[in-house]
Amino acid sequence: MPVAGGARGWLILGAVVEEEVEVVLGVDGVEVVLRCLPASSLLRALRDAGLTATPGGCEQGECGSCTVLVDGVSVCACLVNAGTVAGCEVRTVAGLASPDLEAAMARNGTVQCGFCTPGFVVSSEALLAGGGVPSRDEVREALAGNLCRCTGYAGLVEAVMEVARERAG
Ligand code: FES
Ligand code: FES
Repeated sequence: MPVAGGARGWLILGAVVEEEVEVVLGVDGVEVVLRCLPASSLLRALRDAGLTATPGGCEQGECGSCTVLVDGVSVCACLVNAGTVAGCEVRTVAGLASPDLEAAMARNGTVQCGFCTPGFVVSSEALLAGGGVPSRDEVREALAGNLCRCTGYAGLVEAVMEVARERAG
């Protein structure tokens, strides 16, 4: 067995072999079996399964690019252990029909590199699902966990406000 040593003692370096687990859940309305290591994040497990609509960024809960809905609640998929969502319905940007929101985001100049766009769409839809027209502060609060390094945030808030007004009729 390999060992490493130093002036303060010895550390035995044993190989830890983890077995994959199966997690059955719904993703965008389809039953999916994710095979992943017990410590895998939902983000990693989705992407390793080929469900790559949700991008990975910081993988530390800081950027919001990996935002998904778990049973309707907006979360950072990189912070969620995949095993904890067994039996849940996960909605990714791929499963959200948001052509009006995406058009409003483009119209307001909020899509440049586009890396943040999936997360903004999911967070915005989580807010818009509540119905009605939110205040600008409510929109800002709903989007507070999503970072954009390209565009600033005024256009994003405006896009969500426009869609909320349109959907409210
Ligand atoms: S990748 Fe999850 S918050 Fe950045
Ligand atoms: S458009 Fe580039 S990070 Fe938002």
